[in-house]
Amino acid sequence: MLELIDLTKKYSDKIVVDGLSLKARQGEIVGLLGPNGAGKSTTVSIISTILAPDSGEIWVDQQLLKPSSCEVRRIMGIVPQELALYEALSAMDNLEFFGTLYGMSGNVLKDRAREVLELMGLYDKRHQSIQEFSGGMKRRINMGIALMHNPKLLILDEPTVGIDPQSRNHILETVKGLKREFGTTVIYTTHYMEEVEYLCDRVAIMDHGKLIAYGTKEELQKSSEALDTLTLAFQPTGQEYTEDAAQIPGIAKITMDKNEMSLLVDPKEGNVIEILDQLRYLGIQLTSFQYEKVNLEQVFLQLTGKSLRD
Ligand SMILES: Nc1ncnc2c1ncn2[C@@H]1O[C@H](COP(=O)(O)OP(=O)(O)O)[C@@H](O)[C@H]1O
Ligand SMILES: [Mg+2]
Repeated sequence: MLELIDLTKKYSDKIVVDGLSLKARQGEIVGLLGPNGAGKSTTVSIISTILAPDSGEIWVDQQLLKPSSCEVRRIMGIVPQELALYEALSAMDNLEFFGTLYGMSGNVLKDRAREVLELMGLYDKRHQSIQEFSGGMKRRINMGIALMHNPKLLILDEPTVGIDPQSRNHILETVKGLKREFGTTVIYTTHYMEEVEYLCDRVAIMDHGKLIAYGTKEELQKSSEALDTLTLAFQPTGQEYTEDAAQIPGIAKITMDKNEMSLLVDPKEGNVIEILDQLRYLGIQLTSFQYEKVNLEQVFLQLTGKSLRD
């Protein structure tokens, strides 16, 4: 549905998008995950033809994208990172205004504006002007505008930054619903790992303008060297277990703290049940344990050497 081939963009001497290639299949939600400054918004601007790349190609629905190609652009809906709304106009008027830019008119326009307001959960507030809206409600209208012309490909740029949990959930659920009910292809740009874990079929991790990993969450976890964490509490017996425990296959690192130990477990070779059995065999009397699968944050840390939240 969307294919980026070797996209590059420089600002004076600084490479902001660096040979980015990426394919999104019809009906999948692809997360574009990267820290601030990774080049996500620049990539979105290039796809929306606001910005010309220095090199590379974009294919949408098997057609080469050019700034002049209106047909191709109609397939896409773009939700920009910065709000693009008329504050003095009502929610309904904003949707209708942007709908007319897509050539919609008459009852088709009015019906669609109503539908979109319902979809975004703001139909009751349709006559209120945008300046009376909360940040989250504005974000929902910002998204609604991109949906007016029923795009087959929806690209959202950090749509939930700094908003209330209710609006955030609404946006996440709407994205899921679009995929489920209409088979919409979605590119979801964010630096929130939890959103990507919740929403996305595949994750593209971007840093310094480059794609550094792409795959399902499970594929990324497998391919990275990041480890699972097993935290155990045990009855103190005065005995030292560290050395013996270190011999157990699958345990990569042990940190002891009084009657608690934290283990890094290699998911490729560590079988948690077996590790627990072996620890008990050493005489350790476990009182509780907690097992955490490696998450995208750790995968990211492993791949880039830094935290997503830096
Ligand atoms: N118009 C511009 N002129 C110069 N540098 C820019 C411009 N826009 C973005 N940049 C730089 O490009 C890099 C990537 O920015 P951006 O695409 O906004 O990243 P992200 O959306 O991932 O936070 C940043 O270092 C930013 O400062
Ligand atoms: Mg951005």
